[in-house]
Amino acid sequence: MMTMLPIPKMETERGKLYEGDCLSILPQLTSECVDLIFADPPFNLGKEYSSKMNDSVPERDYLDWCKNWCDELVRVLRPGGSFFLFNLPKWNLPLGAYLGEKLTFRHWIAVDIKYTLPIPKRLYPSHYSLLYFIKGQKPAIFHPDRLPIKTCPHCGKEQNDYGGYKDKMNPSGVSLTDVWYDIPPVRHTKYKKREANELSLKLLDRVVSLASDPGSVVLDPFGGSGTTYIAAELLQRKWIGMELDCSDIVDRFENIQGDEDYLARISTVKNTLFTQESLRLRRQFGHDTSKYRLNGNGCESNVQPNGQPILF
Ligand SMILES: C[S@@+](CC[C@H](N)C(=O)[O-])C[C@H]1O[C@@H](n2cnc3c(N)ncnc32)[C@H](O)[C@@H]1O
Repeated sequence: MMTMLPIPKMETERGKLYEGDCLSILPQLTSECVDLIFADPPFNLGKEYSSKMNDSVPERDYLDWCKNWCDELVRVLRPGGSFFLFNLPKWNLPLGAYLGEKLTFRHWIAVDIKYTLPIPKRLYPSHYSLLYFIKGQKPAIFHPDRLPIKTCPHCGKEQNDYGGYKDKMNPSGVSLTDVWYDIPPVRHTKYKKREANELSLKLLDRVVSLASDPGSVVLDPFGGSGTTYIAAELLQRKWIGMELDCSDIVDRFENIQGDEDYLARISTVKNTLFTQESLRLRRQFGHDTSKYRLNGNGCESNVQPNGQPILF
């Protein structure tokens, strides 16, 4: 799969992590060896990275740099493979147009996270752009998670009115849309250094689950604190990682249990119509759930109130 690669900084059962510039490592990978790419580059906002890279360069230089690694990523992607690019809308607009000449556009996913204070005379920026492309016409792998019905966190009542359609709803949950409103910002007290740039493991769990299978190869050229690699490792995918300064990633793998516990927790709040917590609240506040068919992994029962099994 690979040619003259440097010695990895770290290896696990499933992954290899290379310390260095992705632009010198990527050319060492053979073409079309990767099923899923997730890239979350620096946004050229003048942030300080532990690697001391320059995150404030002229716009033209930033876009040229992005296009260089995008070209390499397109080359290493297998036909049918998926490419996710996470960035500010400002950068994903030109980069999306560039990638659209080489790959097939699938979605502009709005990841609803507020990331600055309101800016005078502008709309309040409240989403990151997650571009989703595939190589060729059809995705080789596509199985998006389903989400629970949105309910009031205090009483468990539905936030939308499903009227007479309750019994028609998929017991595994609501279809995933291209607006992801449930991704929490990451706030660490334990790993202060990671705080500024780390993405939520919930986001990477969703992307990795959607566009890869156990045994697939996942690549992220901008490791940061290693969220993509942690998701890949825990979901039994192979992975290839690169980062200028790998120390946070190595630390994180040494303490992977917390991430494993978190992943186990979030797996109980997806692919189900109601979470255990919303069912508990609904019972407490007297909201009728009997019209829904319940069979998801967070649901308490797959029998109807009259004791008959639910048939699908
Ligand atoms: C926005 S952060 C990625 C955060 C990551 N997604 C996470 O959840 O932890 C971008 C990372 O890219 C790294 N980086 C910047 N230029 C790089 C390059 N040329 N090659 C490899 N990594 C680079 C930076 O050191 C930084 O850690």
